[in-house]
Amino acid sequence: MSFIELKNLSKKYDKADNYSVKDFNLDIDEGEFIAFVGPSGCGKSTTLRMIAGFEDITDGDLIIDGEKVNEKAPKDRGISMVFQNYALYPHMTVYDNIAYGLKNMKVPKDEIKKKVDWAIDVLGLEEFRKRKPKNLSGGQRQRVALGRAIVKDTKTFLMDEPLSNLDAKLRVSMRNEISNLHRTLGSTTIYVTHDQVEAMTMADRIVIMKDGVVHQVGRPMELYEHPTNKFVAGFIGSPQMNFYDVSLDGDTITFKDGNKITLPKDLAKKLEDHQGEMILGIRGEDIKLDEPNLEKYKDNILEATVNNTEIMGNENNLYFDFGGAGSIARVSKYDVSDIGDRIKFIFNPEKMHFFDKDTEEAIIFT
Ligand SMILES: Nc1ncnc2c1ncn2[C@@H]1O[C@H](COP(=O)(O)OP(=O)(O)OP(=O)(O)O)[C@@H](O)[C@H]1O
Ligand SMILES: [Mg+2]
Repeated sequence: MSFIELKNLSKKYDKADNYSVKDFNLDIDEGEFIAFVGPSGCGKSTTLRMIAGFEDITDGDLIIDGEKVNEKAPKDRGISMVFQNYALYPHMTVYDNIAYGLKNMKVPKDEIKKKVDWAIDVLGLEEFRKRKPKNLSGGQRQRVALGRAIVKDTKTFLMDEPLSNLDAKLRVSMRNEISNLHRTLGSTTIYVTHDQVEAMTMADRIVIMKDGVVHQVGRPMELYEHPTNKFVAGFIGSPQMNFYDVSLDGDTITFKDGNKITLPKDLAKKLEDHQGEMILGIRGEDIKLDEPNLEKYKDNILEATVNNTEIMGNENNLYFDFGGAGSIARVSKYDVSDIGDRIKFIFNPEKMHFFDKDTEEAIIFT
């Protein structure tokens, strides 16, 4: 038995024409860290709020610890939640904001102090403990909201974009803090974000949503290596996967601009029932410019002209037009190709993805 079960969970807001969430199915084990990701408006917050009990469930069942809780009040669900639009009590200090929930629960005073001091320390709020929210930055307020949730001994944390107002450096350190916290407390966590890096680095499993529908559930590398459709392939990974409209004839792939590559025999065999037009996807790091790869795949060397470069420090991104589409290759920082340079490259055939032209579903997992 899973700890939290979502069975065809659906939400249609009053007066809305369409469902905001439709048939969401998921079994969450106790202690798991689950991330919901997807573009704005895909239904992440709505799902989280249904689990918390702040939004009525239109259809389907929510089961926590074996018990159906559709009608249960939020406070009786054993959950604490950090909201996307957190509201702090304006007249209370940071300390009192964090302590408030515990005071309400009649926790002894010395225990409250211990917990709040710990949260203030973990969240780096020491110098602000006596300040009121109006004198804090957005990121500091967000940390106070996080503090309010983590001091409660609940079995489940729901977090709705808890790091969205933090600067890049603080985001990385808070990402680590939340992961550490999760390991220490062992509490089941559902974490909403539209930052796929957060989802990839923190979650045991990721749920990818679009338009109120779950598109794929899996471990981070499962999603990265084996996306089930073009949307997932494009959503996970930065820079985005390159996509090309191609046509397959036997073992020959022809791109829109007339370029061709020959597939290895085993790959051509797997695709033999899928001749004709399709979409080819390849990640930037699987476009190779180095000598050993050019040598290994010397019959399939392609060429293009670099039209932009991004020097990232640890690596470089090369932009070029190829196959009728804008393309990005992620190359080593030692590759010093410049704008206007003619480059030679190959597509690693072991890392190519193929999608049906109409349904955009993955044809085979490469
Ligand atoms: N109270 C409401 N009444 C009617 N429609 C709503 C309401 N709240 C949300 N919606 C709609 O439901 C859909 C899902 O919204 P939701 O807030 O769950 O998205 P989200 O994935 O959290 O997006 P974001 O990343 O922007 O926070 C959207 O189309 C939104 O406009
Ligand atoms: Mg939201």
